[in-house]
Order: sequence, then C-alpha cells, then structure tokens
Amino acid sequence: MRPTTILLTGGAGFIGSHTCVDLLQHDFELIVVDNFANSTPRVFTRVERLADRLIDAVYDVDIRDRQALSAVFDRHSVDAVVHFAARKAVGESTRMPVEYYDTNIGGTTSLLRTMHEHGVHQLVFSSSCSIYGDAGRGPLDETTPARPTNPYAASKWTCEQLLADVCRRCPEFTVLCLRYFNPVGAHPSGLLGEAPCGTPGNLVPYLAQVAAGRLDRLSVFGDDYDTPDGTAIRDYLHVMDTAEAHRVALEHLADGPGMHAFNLGVGSGRTVLEVRAAFEAACGRPIPYRVVDRRPGDVPELVADPRAVERAWGWRATRDLADMCQDAWRFQQHNPHGYAGWARRHEYEGATP
Ligand code: UD1
Repeated sequence: MRPTTILLTGGAGFIGSHTCVDLLQHDFELIVVDNFANSTPRVFTRVERLADRLIDAVYDVDIRDRQALSAVFDRHSVDAVVHFAARKAVGESTRMPVEYYDTNIGGTTSLLRTMHEHGVHQLVFSSSCSIYGDAGRGPLDETTPARPTNPYAASKWTCEQLLADVCRRCPEFTVLCLRYFNPVGAHPSGLLGEAPCGTPGNLVPYLAQVAAGRLDRLSVFGDDYDTPDGTAIRDYLHVMDTAEAHRVALEHLADGPGMHAFNLGVGSGRTVLEVRAAFEAACGRPIPYRVVDRRPGDVPELVADPRAVERAWGWRATRDLADMCQDAWRFQQHNPHGYAGWARRHEYEGATP
C-alpha cells in the first residue's frame, strides 16, 4: 500500500524542498523536520504556493536530539520517512570529519531508533555517487565496489552498510538508498533553487553567480585530466527529476522488505567546460574563467549507469543540461540573494513540538 503521511528530514534543503512540492502535488501529507543549519524555513512559503497545498507541520529539530524527534513521531502517524538531512560539502568534510560522522551517521542512527520505537519501518535514504570514489571510466552500476575517499562519502557509505545490516536482521524494515550523481538546476518557476549560504562550493551555483556579476570568474579545477577537454566529467541531473525519483521510490516501498540501492543519474557525462558553455547559452552572457589547480579529492569522471532504477521502477531522467542551466539561471535572476530577500511578512511561522 502506498504510504500517505511522509516525514522528511532536511526538507528545507535543495533536494528536500523540490521533493516537498512534488509530494504535495501528488497528495502526500508532509511533516518536515529540519535544523535549518544550511537552509531557511522561508522556503516553505514558496513550496506551499507552488503546490497550492499546505505542509502539515514543520519542526525546527536536530535529528540527533532523540527526545525532540520522538515528540514529532508521537504527534503524527508517520507511514514512511525520506531522510535528506546531512552535511554535504566534500571539502568541509575533510576539515571537520567528526562533525560529518556525528551529523550524518549519528543523525541516521538516531532517526532509525526513533522510527523503530514508533513502528515506522519504511525509509528512503539520500546516498551519493561519491561512495564510488575514483572508480575509473565509463558508467558505473550499483555493483561497483564502494571506495569512499573523504569523510562525507565515508559517512554515506557507512550509513548504507548499517541500513543494509538492519534490514538483514529486522525484516520489518524496507530501505531504498538513492545514490545521487550531481543534482543541479531549479524549479522552472524560478521560486525554488539552490541557495547556498556564502560563496557556492558547487559548479552550477557558482556559474550562476558569475553570470549575475556577483563573482568575477569561474575557477576551473584542473584541465589536465584524461578527458576530451581536460576538465573533469560528472553526470548532472535536474533537481526536478531527482525530486520525482523520491516520489517513485515511496510508491515502491511496498514492493518488498530489505535494502535496495539505486543510482540516480542521466547516464551521460559532461565536462566542466561543457557545463560552462551550456550556462553561457542559457544566460546569453560570457562567463569568464581561468584554470587553477585540481581540487583535492576530485576524481576525473563519475557517470551513472541508471538502468537498474529504470528496470525496477520505470523511472528515468527527462530533463537535459539546457533545462538545468535555464532553470538555475531563472532562479538566480529572481533571487540574487537566495532566499534572504523574501519579505518578512511571508515568512513561515514554524511550529515546535
Ligand atoms: C560533490 C560530491 C557529491 C556531493 C556534492 C555536493 C563527489 C565525487 N561528489 O560533487 O556527492 O553531493 O559534491 O556538495 O565528491 N568545479 C570547478 N569549479 C568550481 C566548482 C566545481 O571546476 O568552482 C568542478 C569540480 O572540480 C567538479 C565539477 O565542477 O569536477 C562538479 O563539482 P561540484 O559541483 O562541486 O560537485 P562534485 O564535487 O562532483
């Protein structure tokens, strides 16, 4: 049976907020838990406007706070959980490993325990292609051995392993791990997008700010990789496709127990310079760049073989790189300061348990 009431951890974040819109539009009831460490509750005004429906409740709670988390589960009859909440910056993870392990692994075990105590055993988990590390060339399927090379990736891989073990030992659990490749873009309305606090660390939000004149030029991290133009290759996936995949996952939680992991990607790779060219085409402006040293920890190529998820659920990405850049540019133009400029009177008044 399809779950009805979904609790989303990290629902205010980039992928979480887009997923909220899609789920509301498909008649799910939503409870959101977020500590707003890298996001703002203001996003929910826009989510609700886009979906023309209300989220049932939003809680300013850190998932490691088991008492507060338990109070949320006490108040709502949750059918399934989508667990986005995590720290996600690779570079930062190398400087703050303890923080990453505590938030990402500690947060997940706290959530699991609370779910178990409340009889909730269906989970969709945000994993990452970064678990594959430097796995070599060509599309990677889910049997590729995990070789994480930084604490962020190691935290995601550890979570996958512990979730798999819990599923082996407790047959009431069903866990679907979605290994995202590079989600980018924005909602086509221009109302929702990626709004990092401070200078963006990721390619597409950085390009958007250069195009807008807020940053001088893109630093391309290395042009001496063994790729057609020397810059690194990634599999960029529209955030709307990513969001839809979560809904499809929820619809398949009832297929059977156990842990199942799927790659979410388009299945083809683009170099950094190809993405820059696509962004220039989308914004109609030149985007200056210079080549600098490789970024420590970057790998030459990460491209998904996404056929398993298509075989299992019929899901595949439908939006292309031009859509991703056009939508990211529209969000940048409408929101030059991210969500910070949103009028106070529209702010969401968050509830606490
Ligand atoms: C990484 C993680 C991914 C994580 C994501 C979110 C890996 C392999 N992937 O993606 O799991 O979810 O971060 O933080 O660790 N680049 C530039 N200049 C810039 C920014 C980026 O040249 O200013 C290049 C990078 O070297 C890379 C590509 O653009 O080749 C994409 O980088 P980015 O958007 O940061 O994502 P990943 O590092 O691939």
